[in-house]
Amino acid sequence: MDYILAPSILAADFKVLGREIQETEKNGARYLHYDVMDGMFVPSISFGMPVLASIHDASDQVMDVHLMVQEPIRYIEDFRKAGADLVTVHLEACADVDATLGKIRECGLKTGLSICPETPAESVEPYLKDIDMILVMSVHPGFGGQKFIPESLDKIRKIRGMMEAQGISADIEVDGGIGLSNVREVLNAGANVIVAGSAVFGDRTAENTREFMEILREYE
Ligand code: DX5
Ligand code: ZN
Repeated sequence: MDYILAPSILAADFKVLGREIQETEKNGARYLHYDVMDGMFVPSISFGMPVLASIHDASDQVMDVHLMVQEPIRYIEDFRKAGADLVTVHLEACADVDATLGKIRECGLKTGLSICPETPAESVEPYLKDIDMILVMSVHPGFGGQKFIPESLDKIRKIRGMMEAQGISADIEVDGGIGLSNVREVLNAGANVIVAGSAVFGDRTAENTREFMEILREYE
């Protein structure tokens, strides 16, 4: 199992975005978490295909695209063209989850399925065989800098248990309110891909990335 840091660029300084991304790549973050918000599925609006198209060759990181978008099947192809490597959709946002996951696979991308804090763990069970990654939201999606919801730990354990029961070793990514002080709890619960925005980006991006990577290496 690989242990991966996925810095969320929602928290980055967009005046110097290329440099911020490089700082995380140079210090070991293998994914770049790209939060797409449409103002419908979540209350805020972030960024879309053009920004991804301009940054995806700024680094060799995996472009881990998190679509907080209503009916995301409409945009999978566009995000593939813009440079996505992995696309995660919300179970709550899809009229047809199977069709949407199928579309991501058809586009040759790694497939992720995400659930909000209020959605029970059991809801992803039917899809575990069809995905590369489950994204457990540990905050209500829409904003960076929120507080980690502790009930998420039990949900991570449950989903890891379901995967093991089905003989599946897919990734579990956790997203929202994760910092150096609580990341070990999230890893101990069974996650192996860690999203961090405000705990990485700021005036010590390189050092924060290094400190997260030191902790992740304890689990290798
Ligand atoms: C929230 C996003 C998260 C967020 C993480 O809707 O999906 O990726 O940017 O930011 P922090 O790590 O600051 O909670
Ligand atoms: Zn996210």
